[in-house]
Amino acid sequence: MRNKPVVIGVAGGSGSGKTSVTKAIYDFFQGHSIAMIEQDYYYRDQRDIPYEERLETNYDHPLAFDNDLLIEHIKTLQKREPIEKPVYDYTVHTRGDRTIPVEPKDVIILEGILVLEDERLRNLMDIKLYVDTDSDLRIIRRLLRDINERGRTIDSVVDQYINVVRPMHNQFIEPTKRYADIIIPEGGQNHVAIDLMVTKIQTILEQKSIV
Ligand code: CTP
Repeated sequence: MRNKPVVIGVAGGSGSGKTSVTKAIYDFFQGHSIAMIEQDYYYRDQRDIPYEERLETNYDHPLAFDNDLLIEHIKTLQKREPIEKPVYDYTVHTRGDRTIPVEPKDVIILEGILVLEDERLRNLMDIKLYVDTDSDLRIIRRLLRDINERGRTIDSVVDQYINVVRPMHNQFIEPTKRYADIIIPEGGQNHVAIDLMVTKIQTILEQKSIV
């Protein structure tokens, strides 16, 4: 019987660099045994809701996520059983029919704006990180990404940022910083923080006698 996997939560505002931090850790453990779970893929299923209505959804509110399914999946992976991860399409604002099989791994990285907001999720984590990046950098990154990768216009990104993303960040995301074990300034560019994380994960894996 193998030990429970190490679960690492990576939270932070939109455009903070969660993906770069997560990728840096992921790349280090390549060839080892590591799985990546994006909270974004667990936005509530909106396939039955017309496209126009999906545009009105508040995607920065905790209730936008199907955390019950996410928690069930993390617990399943902790039992060393496989899951079928949903696949989310930002251009149409919902998941598709396709799922991705994820095999159980020694390290599970759970990344998303609100992964530290739900106490049940926090209780599943061995390490909690918050990527802390200034809001001017975050909006610039978000603007470029949403236009280039998520099929948005400048006007829609600016409107969504001012009316939804910013107030929700202040109300729900920023306060979760207090739950973090480690606050990482400037995300993926912070090589010292990433090296420390990698060392810590290795120590936990050794303690759990996985490596
Ligand atoms: N979002 C959206 N439309 C959807 C679903 C989500 O605009 N249909 C937006 C939400 O407004 C939320 C953001 O997606 O703010 C969450 O993704 P984000 O954290 O920006 O992306 P990551 O790549 O996960 O993180 P980072 O930029 O920190 O690397």
